[in-house]
Amino acid sequence: MIALFVAAAVAQAQSPSPAPVASGAGAQEIFEQKCKFCHGEDGKGKTKKGKLYKVPDFTSKKFQKNESDEEIEDAITNGVPKSKMKPFKDKLTPDQIDALAKYVRAFGANTGGARSPRDGRSP
Ligand code: HEC
Repeated sequence: MIALFVAAAVAQAQSPSPAPVASGAGAQEIFEQKCKFCHGEDGKGKTKKGKLYKVPDFTSKKFQKNESDEEIEDAITNGVPKSKMKPFKDKLTPDQIDALAKYVRAFGANTGGARSPRDGRSP
């Protein structure tokens, strides 16, 4: 078991570049890793940090109407000045940022209080 695990880890460590993610794919994973603790799994920002930092509700009509795709991408790339929204341009590829922008948009299609887009993560 352990040997297998190590082998897998080594195999992963050997892949050189930070594997670019195809548009759309992987966005949920990145969001869960890097965005969820502020913005919430459901994008509403009703997390402890979200309330503290006053994050916007991605599912609100107002947010979706006021923000252009460019603004969303710019916010993820360069951050929002004087806020806790930090730039991610050194941490994510442009493809990943593009995918995340679409993911943020997708929250707007989900305003009926539905559960998060994909919940099929049972072990
Ligand atoms: C440390 C908490 C934190 C994390 C982590 C975080 N954000 Fe934010 N985010 C904020 C805050 C606070 C704002 C509101 C900024 C403002 O407009 O004052 C914000 C705003 C935004 C906006 C709207 C920008 C605008 O123009 O109003 C987008 C889009 C966004 N975040 C996406 C993301 C994505 C995608 C990630 C993960 C890669 C992420 N955020 C991670 C705190 C965070």
